[in-house]
Amino acid sequence: MAFWARRKSLDAILQVEESRRLTPTLSWPHLIALGIGAIIGTGIYTLTGIGAERAGPAVILAFAACGVLCVFAALAYAEMATMIPAAGSAYTYAYAVLGEGAAWIMGWSLILEYSVTCSAVAVGWSGYMVGLLRSIGVTLPAGLLAGPQGGGVVNLPAVLIVLAVTGLLVRGAKESATVNLGLVAIKIVALCVFVALTFTAIRPAHFTPFMPYGFTSQTINGHTKGVMAAAAIIFFAFFGFDAVSTSAEEVKNPGRDLTIGIIGSMVISTVIYMIVAACAVGAWPYAAFARSNEPLAFILRELHHPLAAFAIAAAAVIALPSVILVMMFGQTRVFFVMARDGLLPHGLSRLQGRRGSPMALTLIVGAFVAVVAGLFRLDQIAELSNAGTLLAFICVSVCVMVLRVRSPDIPRLFRCPAVWIVAPLSVAGCLYFTISLPPATLLRFAVWNVVGVIVYLCYGRRKSLVGSIN
Ligand code: ALA
Repeated sequence: MAFWARRKSLDAILQVEESRRLTPTLSWPHLIALGIGAIIGTGIYTLTGIGAERAGPAVILAFAACGVLCVFAALAYAEMATMIPAAGSAYTYAYAVLGEGAAWIMGWSLILEYSVTCSAVAVGWSGYMVGLLRSIGVTLPAGLLAGPQGGGVVNLPAVLIVLAVTGLLVRGAKESATVNLGLVAIKIVALCVFVALTFTAIRPAHFTPFMPYGFTSQTINGHTKGVMAAAAIIFFAFFGFDAVSTSAEEVKNPGRDLTIGIIGSMVISTVIYMIVAACAVGAWPYAAFARSNEPLAFILRELHHPLAAFAIAAAAVIALPSVILVMMFGQTRVFFVMARDGLLPHGLSRLQGRRGSPMALTLIVGAFVAVVAGLFRLDQIAELSNAGTLLAFICVSVCVMVLRVRSPDIPRLFRCPAVWIVAPLSVAGCLYFTISLPPATLLRFAVWNVVGVIVYLCYGRRKSLVGSIN
């Protein structure tokens, strides 16, 4: 068998997992809380401004388009996650279904996706932290508030929050369900306050022209504009629902609870996003807040609600680090499984410390995330993360279809409804979102993957454990 087509045996994965099933304790309200906890973050708190700059008031439509695409992708994800409830997400699915070559590209893309997502959330957190400090009279030197790409030297607050979260992970921290519930409440209450205070300030004039740059993504004066250009970046706001599908094993009634949990958290997030975006663009001219690092607090301040602006910034500062924690945890697990499979140096999968966390790996990931967060602009890194996520969605949707044909009789805890409509639409939608990304992002993503292929050919291909067995 050609090396890129080596596959992990699905039976072996299923047998191992069968003997270690977790106790099912969760039902759909838990799943909705889990999903919203991972989903709501920098996307709505910060990217709303950048999205509005690209689409004008029609950024509301961009949120709707992302929501629809993510429901399709999430349904496909849930079928795979319940069938192969093993660590590694799309990387593991690709290894079992499409072969080692596809799995490598998927794993390499996931490494980028999870890392830069953490960096992006850290940069978003930094914007609100700096605003919060300024409102109590503490001003940091401008050079320490943005990286060279953003006109400064280094984004120090973003680097510090990444290092703090890395420290927690090295000590083996995990987010508890109770903490998550508290943070979900903080994030949602803050957004509700924003809506309540901006609703009465909405002026119909702020909605015209509604779609100043049209629907499709196009380059105008060197800037990517249009509803799809906005959708391609704020897609970031929806990432995190795989937290729901990967908990499949612990769900009491997967068929019912997962469907409600996934679609519910996605629909609730989409509705919240659309309402917040409508209030933002309706209450204040979008061009004024588009470039702010803390657009929601900026709008409240302009509307003379300094206390509410302070509260929303405080909510972001308290709640966003948990998104970094969840994402960095996911990243280290993908890295860990790849090292355990021999595709990356095996020593990296060594567990250390009392709680058995992959320390060396976590430190490497933390350093990479901190460097990216310290040097790059939010829009650049969020878009790069989206390119990786879109590839993962495509891969998972393809895996679902391939397995329906190749192994129709494997027991499926959850079956994606109308799979031959949902999965192809998910693939087509992801491709459309991908080509709506700026060419520079696609180029960076291609370079990352070319480097990945070289690493695989020089290292992983020869060291692969699956390869040594075959
Ligand atoms: N969806 C997450 C956020 O917006 C990654 O922060």
